[in-house]
Amino acid sequence: MELHFAEPFKMKMVESIRRSSRSERESWITEAGFNLFNLRSEQVYIDMLTDSGTGAMSDRQWAEIMLGDESYAGSSSYFKLKSAIRDIFGFEYFLPTHQGRAAENVLFSVLVKEGNIVPGNSHFDTTKGHIEFRKAHAVDCTIDEAFDTTIEHPFKGNVDLEKLETVLKKYPGEQIPFIIVTITCNSSGGQPVSLENLRGVSALAKKYGIRLLYDSARFAENAYFIKKREKGQQNRSIREIVADMFALADGMTMSSKKDAIVNIGGFIALRDPEIHRQASVFNIMFEGFVTYGGLAGRDMGALAQGLYEGTEFDYLDARIEQVGYLGKMLTGFGVPVQRPYGGHAIFIDANKILAHLPKEQFRAQTLCVELYLEGGVRGVEIGAIMADRDPETRENRYPALELVRLAIPRRVYTNNHMEYVAATVANVFERRSGISCGMEISYEAPILRHFTVRMNRAVSSEILVP
Ligand code: F0G
Repeated sequence: MELHFAEPFKMKMVESIRRSSRSERESWITEAGFNLFNLRSEQVYIDMLTDSGTGAMSDRQWAEIMLGDESYAGSSSYFKLKSAIRDIFGFEYFLPTHQGRAAENVLFSVLVKEGNIVPGNSHFDTTKGHIEFRKAHAVDCTIDEAFDTTIEHPFKGNVDLEKLETVLKKYPGEQIPFIIVTITCNSSGGQPVSLENLRGVSALAKKYGIRLLYDSARFAENAYFIKKREKGQQNRSIREIVADMFALADGMTMSSKKDAIVNIGGFIALRDPEIHRQASVFNIMFEGFVTYGGLAGRDMGALAQGLYEGTEFDYLDARIEQVGYLGKMLTGFGVPVQRPYGGHAIFIDANKILAHLPKEQFRAQTLCVELYLEGGVRGVEIGAIMADRDPETRENRYPALELVRLAIPRRVYTNNHMEYVAATVANVFERRSGISCGMEISYEAPILRHFTVRMNRAVSSEILVP
């Protein structure tokens, strides 16, 4: 008999979680203004809001916490992290930041100017936020296949090279500070970018003299998919693939809360000492001195260790198999989800499930609320609420996909938890036609509104009966 696949770790510490009743959840979600970010964590049973900062650190990472050097300047933990970054990514220059968006803030303060154009593959919301905040424009050049959840394309995070070249031809080079490729592409469903595609983007970047940056939060999961799916990569190690990916780029921003499996942390890494010098000024202003950048020494030690653990094949295999386990169960129940399954999450296609509600009633948000009511499962909307209003016209933007993301924290939940989640989704899916009204906004912030938005149930008379 073939020996069954299993996780390459065992548990040393556990944390209690509690189930609740439907009536408790009804009152909690109403108090929360139907925004799942406003719930207290005790009000959630299985928390799939994000895989960011929610992973379980290893004993070795906790050991690094004890070894942390808390010197204000020049701590050994900083040098440990610097050496891990050089070793894994090949970048000589780096700045620690407290998380990924802080890395964006510091680096974009140097590079992005009003009126600039920043092409990429479905920029993450904070990346886009930091571009638009500087009155610049993010241009989405993702391949069209990404926007049809039913198409089985192995690299749905890929950049459409024709779309990219059109942008590079249309605008003068001075107006394009860099191309940013997000690996894996969170907004299109945790979908990977192939090495071949990265090579194509890099060739165009060189041809037009434009920098290439990676938004690298889930770089190791991306490398895992390259190993599994790209021709000629099967016998290579994750670290060899990572080295090839990053050899093509001029720099990276990193949210270490994902693939480096720490609860807080981020960094910028670069090849160019001049940009590093300029970014150092902003790092000192916004984050902290250049050798800690908003992190404690212990955080940098745990992060360095996490970069090595996060790029081990057996760990990645267990992680991505678990995401696939949930995906397969949902597919088995007939629930429409983004295919193939993503690296960090399963993305449910709310446009297909709640097609009978007008899109103005925020189908994905409505589905998120129903999943919470059904089983105390907290997912997140990746749809029209997160897409924000157009910064110029102030009209709501309705993206091609209305998704509910069920993100799986690293090394935290068991497959029993995944079975519970699958049953929750299946129950809501079965009673979908009875969901007769969506949501309407009662309060929203001018930018990144999804974090603080408040909503009511929409008036049901507007419903288009299926
Ligand atoms: N880039 C990507 C691709 C991300 O997914 C995130 C965060 C960031 C940048 C920003 O990093 O949170 O450390 O400031 N994504 C989280 C998520 C919030 O839930 O997907 P951060």
